[in-house]
Amino acid sequence: MGKFYDSVPVSAIVRIRDMMYSVKDPFRLDQGDVSFDAPDTFKQAVAKAMVENRTHYLPTPGIPRLRQLFAAKMRDKNGIPVESDDDVVITNGGTHGIYAVLHALLEPGDEMIVPDPEWPPTMAITQAAGGVAVQVRLHERRGWRWDLDEVERAITPKTRVLYLNSPNNPSGGILTRAEIERLAAIARERDLWVLSDEAYEDIIYNGEHVSIASLPGMYERTIPIYTMSKSYAITGVRVGYFAIKDKKMRDRATKIVLYTTSNVSSIAQYGAVGALEGSQDCITEFRKELLDRRDFFYKGLAEAAPGVFSGDAPDGAFYAFVKINAAWAKDAGIAGDSLSWAMAEHLIKHARIGCVPGVDFGPNCEGYMRFCTGRGRDELTGALASMKETFASIAARTA
Ligand SMILES: Cc1ncc(COP(=O)(O)O)c(C=O)c1O
Repeated sequence: MGKFYDSVPVSAIVRIRDMMYSVKDPFRLDQGDVSFDAPDTFKQAVAKAMVENRTHYLPTPGIPRLRQLFAAKMRDKNGIPVESDDDVVITNGGTHGIYAVLHALLEPGDEMIVPDPEWPPTMAITQAAGGVAVQVRLHERRGWRWDLDEVERAITPKTRVLYLNSPNNPSGGILTRAEIERLAAIARERDLWVLSDEAYEDIIYNGEHVSIASLPGMYERTIPIYTMSKSYAITGVRVGYFAIKDKKMRDRATKIVLYTTSNVSSIAQYGAVGALEGSQDCITEFRKELLDRRDFFYKGLAEAAPGVFSGDAPDGAFYAFVKINAAWAKDAGIAGDSLSWAMAEHLIKHARIGCVPGVDFGPNCEGYMRFCTGRGRDELTGALASMKETFASIAARTA
């Protein structure tokens, strides 16, 4: 089993993160991390927990008050019929939630339908759990959404799980209510579990967030997964959660949480209680600022890299997922086995800009790049200026 992990890939996001530590004065547009400070309600609750010496072991699924708050949030905000706080399990961020749930759900060789593009750890964790991620293309011309006939055709007798991620990382594509209704019908007909990764539920500029678990009869077969990382700007604190109605499945997933962490940090959990009990205004404020930053970046990109990248600004999440002009890259001498890796390496080396190659998100996204637009204005401005200078020097050389 140990050696098996050698074949589980490390996401380019992590590889690039490590590379960026050796870059002097970098522009960190690689990671999916917003630059905002955590809300005071969270920080004060952390400080209070420390003063009160809340530093001891906790129940594995989490402290009762936080489970209660998350259950209420899923009921009131997401419309999911979570009847008991016992359904809720707190995890070390969303990544850990996905790890626990996929290890609980999958048997060796089980297939899971996943969007292409998708956040790479989803595929890696599926593989680590012995499953097979079957990526089905999102279409850029459809606003980075599936053609649901293609999803249906990808389902085989081995398919056990349908993985939804709306808004999608990296494309920002958002499933419509009608699409979610059809996906629910497919899941019922084909007797599938649904894993609904709603990490970006709060970062929607156009359209609505619909949790498939809120549709009649769907919570029974859906595991909604959330994280506080993005909504509260606490990526390093590590608080996520999921809810499972089925007791047997929940006990299994909780056992995985037990043996991978015992319990999520007590201080983080008490801080999370403070964040949830306090004002939720930060969520709206962050979203507003993220929209401005998105527009700022796309405008700047058109000026810094004319004719190099193309694509529409997304309706959700905080990434620019743009297509590289392959002919331009070829003339510029930016080439290799993978165009998107060649572009990422070029931008890191010559412009100090962290970015992620599209191919890492799925085979259909070779030729695309992901930039995080959730960084501060200064960082975005610096990155765009650096990109402009780098590409202008290529233009001068190739003119
Ligand atoms: C789609 C998606 N799901 C889940 C996560 C997990 O986030 P975290 O582990 O920071 O809570 C991320 C993080 O980038 C993500 O993009």
